[in-house]
Amino acid sequence: MSLAASVVIVGAGPAGLLLGNILADHGVDCLILERHTREHIERRPRAGLIEHWAVRELTELGLADRLLAEGARHDSCEFRFLGRRNVSRYGDLAGGRAHYVYPQQELVKDMVAAYLKKGGQLRFSAPAVTIDGFHDRPRVTFEEAGVTRTARGEVVAGCDGFHGAARASVPPDAVTRYEHQHRDGWLAVLAAAPPSTEQIIYALHPDGFAGHMLRSPTVSRYYLQCPAGDASENWSDDRIWSELRRRLATSDDWTLRDGPILDKGVLDMRSWVGEPMRFGNLCLAGDAAHILTPAGAKGMNLALGDARELALGLLDRFHRGDDRRLLAYSETRLEAVWRAQEFSNWLLDLLHGTGDDAQPRPFADRLRRQAIGQITGGGARARAFAESYVG
Ligand code: APR
Repeated sequence: MSLAASVVIVGAGPAGLLLGNILADHGVDCLILERHTREHIERRPRAGLIEHWAVRELTELGLADRLLAEGARHDSCEFRFLGRRNVSRYGDLAGGRAHYVYPQQELVKDMVAAYLKKGGQLRFSAPAVTIDGFHDRPRVTFEEAGVTRTARGEVVAGCDGFHGAARASVPPDAVTRYEHQHRDGWLAVLAAAPPSTEQIIYALHPDGFAGHMLRSPTVSRYYLQCPAGDASENWSDDRIWSELRRRLATSDDWTLRDGPILDKGVLDMRSWVGEPMRFGNLCLAGDAAHILTPAGAKGMNLALGDARELALGLLDRFHRGDDRRLLAYSETRLEAVWRAQEFSNWLLDLLHGTGDDAQPRPFADRLRRQAIGQITGGGARARAFAESYVG
């Protein structure tokens, strides 16, 4: 039997779940199809830095109770270079705005519970295979318990990430792709170690960037710049901790606390945007429409921003018969997407020091020192950094 809903949402990540929650709040019937089990998506460690506007939005929607109680507010970060700490108090510079550190899987857990409580339909272990008919009433073909089924919606929202079915269903000649594969990758490490810092650390080292990110009082995330395509098996626990100690070292008595490594993997550093983000009645949101490197932590926030804009466009269509906002969805969001891409690529170049491969390292390092001085100072460039970083 074929299923039907006003909006079929493919993927229960931050984008799909925020969209589903807003639509359910306003009585728009929707169906979310998710490839994995509930246990899987509620445990999968991903991003963890939520921007000020998104926290406010989630609070207004009643989705932030646990985030506000258990998440940690952050409004400063540190750039380490040549053993010196340089602190950006970006929250103060951006008029009191701040990030919240709250793991993505926890937000997913909260949004799944809220959506189901509202009576929303969500089918786990139901991967979409293909989507067609976007220019009329789109149809999603999906698998469930070994059976091929279909779901029809007036609109389909493709929120199923970069490797999902939505992006793959769009004819290649309907999309203009903008892509940049960065030369180096990041080894991402998750460890059961308490944070050794109260603020995120970006360490710029001659042997490559190292990052110390925050997740919870008992778990921390670290990054180490490494050759693209490096294998995580090349990184023993000893090598990871000694490399982090070396690259994060300061000239004062700061020390790094270690702990058992829970997870490690090499991230492919890709920046990708597909234009447009809407194809008739198929709209793409989040990683299905764009990929950012982790520099600047913009990925999850953009996914939430897409979902919010798409939800408002759909509410205008379903409640007021007004299509203007939905028709402008792609244009509106691509502006935000490219703003985030520009910031993330700029920050990555600063962290890697590879803005121009022809630049001799000592020269490039003097430029980096100058840039860090400016963004951690109190002038116009520091304020611009603060605005872009906090979102
Ligand atoms: N059918 C149904 N669901 C699918 C399919 C499919 N064919 N393919 C993928 N999915 C599901 C995934 O299992 C996942 O739960 O879609 C969801 C997509 O979620 P995310 O990958 O988290 O993407 P998005 O909601 O756009 O959020 C982007 O996630 O990867 C991070 O850094 C990224 O923080 C950013 C955020």
